[in-house]
Amino acid sequence: MERLQKYLSSCGVASRRKSEELIINGHVKVNNEIINELGYKVNEKDKVYVDDVLIKRSDKLYFLLYKPEKIICSVKDEKGRMTVIDLIDTEEKIFPVGRLDYDTSGLLLLTNDGELSNKLSHPSHHVEKTYSVKIDGIVSINDIRKLESGIILDGIKTKKAHAKIIKTDKKNNKTYIELTITEGRNHQVKKMIESINHKVLKLKRISYSFLNLKGLSIGEYRTLTIKEVKQLYNIANKK
Ligand code: URA
Repeated sequence: MERLQKYLSSCGVASRRKSEELIINGHVKVNNEIINELGYKVNEKDKVYVDDVLIKRSDKLYFLLYKPEKIICSVKDEKGRMTVIDLIDTEEKIFPVGRLDYDTSGLLLLTNDGELSNKLSHPSHHVEKTYSVKIDGIVSINDIRKLESGIILDGIKTKKAHAKIIKTDKKNNKTYIELTITEGRNHQVKKMIESINHKVLKLKRISYSFLNLKGLSIGEYRTLTIKEVKQLYNIANKK
């Protein structure tokens, strides 16, 4: 048994809050009856309709997680430590789309849709990922230009990026920047910052393409809506 609004959001109809509005405003039928009650519970056999369209739970699952620091970003850890998969309440075999380091927090997609995951992670797709970066020392405008125009890492130049200084804290000798990159090379942000002779103290991914962390606290997750999945497919299928 599952609350109706949770069922709708887990099927990707809309966010939990929007699903509640659909129920209250009389758009949702269970079997043949309009249900306005938020506490209503449905089981596997119930047929749920939104505006008379039958809603089916897809076998594909898509989650957006606000990953905390100190959680491993893989399906299994050989030392038995907690992984991002342990934070998601599902029996299905899901996996992260790309990676965030153990000490990086922020937006992580998880799915069991291998096709979408492969396409989004492929280097030919320039999905913009924005990181909020706390840096030891004072970063100059010249450093910012270097980050933007490309830096040789392991013999290969990084693609054009966008960087902006959010705050310079002279008293504590720290700089806060936002860096948008379109690649997903190993430890890329940390290596880029090292190459301008600074060290990353904190790293958080704040957006992935059009998706951000709005409405989520650290450790929380939500399912993607059908519209968001379609948008990701559009991006992934762009040549
Ligand atoms: N770049 C890094 O260095 N680490 C991450 O986790 C993500 C991007």
